[in-house]
Amino acid sequence: MRFFVDSADIREIRVALDMGCVDGVTTNPSLLAKVGRPLKETILEIAALVEGPISAECISTQAEGMVEEGLALAALHPHVVVKLPMGVEGLKATRALAAKGIKTNVTLVFSPVQALLCAKAGARFVSPFVGRLDDIGQEGMEMVRQTVAIFENYGFATEVLVASVRNPIHVLHAALAGAHVATVPLAVFKQLAEHPLTDIGIERFLVDWAKVPKP
Ligand code: E4P
Repeated sequence: MRFFVDSADIREIRVALDMGCVDGVTTNPSLLAKVGRPLKETILEIAALVEGPISAECISTQAEGMVEEGLALAALHPHVVVKLPMGVEGLKATRALAAKGIKTNVTLVFSPVQALLCAKAGARFVSPFVGRLDDIGQEGMEMVRQTVAIFENYGFATEVLVASVRNPIHVLHAALAGAHVATVPLAVFKQLAEHPLTDIGIERFLVDWAKVPKP
């Protein structure tokens, strides 16, 4: 399973890289707004650090504009994956960009049949948003399980990129479902690495080590 960092913050991305956890990065307009930096400059800086796919999102609402934006984003760096919104226009743009050999990540996916359409249109990644479904009382991970099963049934090459990950349980269930990728915020990476019994164990070993005679 691959892990992407869900962040536009270079400092956060560096921390996750140092932890050996990063296979790629996903950004979105909200993450860019949080760091208050322009899209292209940020993507280029991330691309200089990370050897893997970097999702950069289009903001056009019509397919034509998405394709134009997507071509400009893809020209920035070979690792750029053009992020497109789910919907009729997003699917049209996915198909058009796929025909030009450009990798896409269809975002804001909330049902397995939306994901199926993305795969048919030639998306490289599809991003089911689990946390936002959980927020409205629907089990987000069920969508991931069903999407993985559908893609396996038909041998689609599109990868399931679990997004809107809010906690370690999301990562666990994404891995059990066989999702190809999870995009994870830095705070969740840290939670994944930690366990109170690990801390207690380290403390106990250090106390005992102090009692070991030293030559
Ligand atoms: C990543 O591709 C998504 O944009 C991101 O995971 C959304 O997360 P959120 O629902 O916590 O905003």
